[in-house]
Amino acid sequence: MVFSVLTVSDRCSKGECEDKSGTLLSELIKPLGEVKSYKIVPDETAGISKALIHMCDEIKSDVVFTTGGTGFAPRDVTPEATKAVIEKEAPGISEAIRYESLKITPKAMLSRAVSGIRGNTLIINLPGSPKAVKESLEVVLPILSHAVETLSGNTLSCGGSYK
Ligand code: MTE
Repeated sequence: MVFSVLTVSDRCSKGECEDKSGTLLSELIKPLGEVKSYKIVPDETAGISKALIHMCDEIKSDVVFTTGGTGFAPRDVTPEATKAVIEKEAPGISEAIRYESLKITPKAMLSRAVSGIRGNTLIINLPGSPKAVKESLEVVLPILSHAVETLSGNTLSCGGSYK
């Protein structure tokens, strides 16, 4: 699988802090494929959308993960920037992440993360902390290869054949 990782953080983009979440995310997905693109952008809708479009259309990623900017803070706009570029929503993925995360912390309800499809690329928003990245990834990793296969048109259905 070809991955891209987009860290959304004002402070990390200015070099004021280390991007621990993007680094951890890249490490955790590396065994499943190649992280072909990794970027840090500030919490600005246009810049986030532009980076997402590049990772989908130019890099041709199978999966783009974002981390950060999904909460209630005034500058949190990652879900809006994602919704602006996806063609189809994949709500089940974000629902599953929140459902499993709520068993760990009630603060999971504070993430407005979304998931969706642009072309053959699946975009998944994750919250910003390394802890949340790890917990959220554990939820989606088991379905990732099937999701990517289905997206590329390589499977007929979940059962593999129509009856
Ligand atoms: N999800 C999991 N699994 N674990 C967490 O610790 N933190 C929450 C939530 N989701 C958390 C989580 C918190 S505290 C916030 S504010 C929101 O994600 C949004 O985070 P973000 O603004 O960094 O994207």
